[in-house]
Amino acid sequence: MAKIKFTPDNQEEELADGSEIREVCENQFNIPFGCKDGICGTCRIRVSEGSDNLSPKNEKENDLLPENPNERLACQVQIKSGTVEMDDGYD
Ligand code: FES
Repeated sequence: MAKIKFTPDNQEEELADGSEIREVCENQFNIPFGCKDGICGTCRIRVSEGSDNLSPKNEKENDLLPENPNERLACQVQIKSGTVEMDDGYD
């Protein structure tokens, strides 16, 4: 099992290795979503620990978030295994 820690609310959720993180982010962590297709950028998250446990940035993420390797689009990411810490990316 893999685990996501959502630091603003000190919440943790387990999910199967290789899962998309979208559903957990939307339903458990209340991260807003728009297009769910890597176009609008609404679902931006910021990874603080364990970024190597996520799928590599895809082309849509690189187009929208080219500057910060720790910013990801929750609608595009799968967790491979292990633990990832993240927040909603907005200060
Ligand atoms: S919901 Fe639009 S980019 Fe993820």
